[in-house]
Amino acid sequence: MADHPFLELRTPRLILRRFRPSDTREFRAYRADPEVARYQSWDPAYSLEEAEAFVESVSRASPGTPGAWFQFAAVSATTGHLVGDVGLRTDANDPSLFELGVTVAPAHHHQGYAAEMAAAVISYAFTTLAAAAIRAITDTRNESSIRLLEHLNFRRTETTEAVFKGEECEEHTYELSAPEG
Ligand SMILES: CC(C)(COP(=O)(O)OP(=O)(O)OC[C@H]1O[C@@H](n2cnc3c(N)ncnc32)[C@H](O)[C@@H]1OP(=O)(O)O)[C@@H](O)C(=O)NCCC(=O)NCCS
Repeated sequence: MADHPFLELRTPRLILRRFRPSDTREFRAYRADPEVARYQSWDPAYSLEEAEAFVESVSRASPGTPGAWFQFAAVSATTGHLVGDVGLRTDANDPSLFELGVTVAPAHHHQGYAAEMAAAVISYAFTTLAAAAIRAITDTRNESSIRLLEHLNFRRTETTEAVFKGEECEEHTYELSAPEG
């Protein structure tokens, strides 16, 4: 499948667009929060230089590129401030399979923003990217993530033992299939 150019998605309260250099400080602030980083791939000692490099690399990416993540910056439609981001990875071998990841800055938790930004990206994946299924993997202790995925109608398909950040743990895999018809 060819790469898809991406402009923006709109929801009632958010604009999802490419990352811009002006997002870097707000992005770094929530990535460096230990609670936000706890079940995520990055370390809470997340530097401004790492954030700059990340923003620079994702600003050149396209959604739908096999084997690669695309990161949608979710900003408030009223203030323009960064609320969080949604990552969408296209499977390297099957470009109709995707993986989803959602992060919201703590100041914006429990206001429905995670569900709102994730739903927009899910809809984009099923319609524009012709996704057949979207997966999400979460630590079994990450209750906010589990509630979010179940709220979005993801179905738990398996639970496996894993080692994450040097610690033995269990991970749930969730999946959402494309709507029929
Ligand atoms: C996982 C994560 C994105 C969830 O964010 P969140 O802010 O809890 O998610 P939402 O605001 O969409 O939903 C939370 C609650 O707010 C409620 N809510 C929905 N709309 C609301 C509104 N307009 N006003 C107030 N509350 C609302 C929801 O019903 C939900 O309630 P519940 O938790 O009892 O089911 C967040 O905890 C996070 O960023 N964690 C760190 C990163 C991470 O681990 N990500 C997991 C990757 S899958």
